[in-house]
Amino acid sequence: MFKEFKKLFLRPFLFTDMHLIHDGLSLDITTASIHDLDEVMTLQSAVYLDYQPWTRQTYMYELTRRSHIYLLVKTNDQIIAILGISTKNIQEAHITNISVLPSFQNKGLGHLLLDICFKLVREADFSKLTLEVDAQNTRAIKLYKSLGFYETKSIKNYYDNGHDGLELCKHINK
Ligand SMILES: CC(C)(COP(=O)(O)OP(=O)(O)OC[C@H]1O[C@@H](n2cnc3c(N)ncnc32)[C@H](O)[C@@H]1OP(=O)(O)O)[C@@H](O)C(=O)NCCC(=O)NCCS
Repeated sequence: MFKEFKKLFLRPFLFTDMHLIHDGLSLDITTASIHDLDEVMTLQSAVYLDYQPWTRQTYMYELTRRSHIYLLVKTNDQIIAILGISTKNIQEAHITNISVLPSFQNKGLGHLLLDICFKLVREADFSKLTLEVDAQNTRAIKLYKSLGFYETKSIKNYYDNGHDGLELCKHINK
């Protein structure tokens, strides 16, 4: 019982900061805190030009939830990518957000963050991982499907801009 409570509410995802060289880039991968809020908002504004999916309040809430984790990728102290994971229930973890600064897209950073995410979710003993994606976001959908996600549901008008959403799921093997 305590194990289940801990899994849902008390830091289920444990991450140790990493430093690595990827595609010639010197990267630091760390966990976000509320102190990163301004920079995270700047990243979001640069990634989503015509539609801001989250408000500052949403990020404040997300960055302070113990059951959620936000990974930041930095190069030269600049945040260039973010990935968030939450818990839905005892079996299911959920990717809340993945964003890579446009000038750093298509360099494998999305893939790298998703691989780290799969490891954290596996170590925290979740058996499935879900996410929602804009049905028109063909690039992201292609990446997710190449990594084992499959469609489970289509959601009409899911996004504030009227776009439909797709729910995707991936099984996480022990
Ligand atoms: C979707 C998103 C997160 C993907 O991140 P990314 O870092 O561009 O993704 P990757 O580089 O890992 O993968 C994209 C492509 O680059 C290729 N790639 C992987 N490693 C690479 C490398 N070292 N060098 C060059 N290309 C590489 C991948 O094979 C993939 O190609 P494919 O689409 O032909 O399969 C990013 O495009 C983004 O932030 N988009 C805007 C926000 C968004 O839509 N988020 C998703 C919300 S659900």
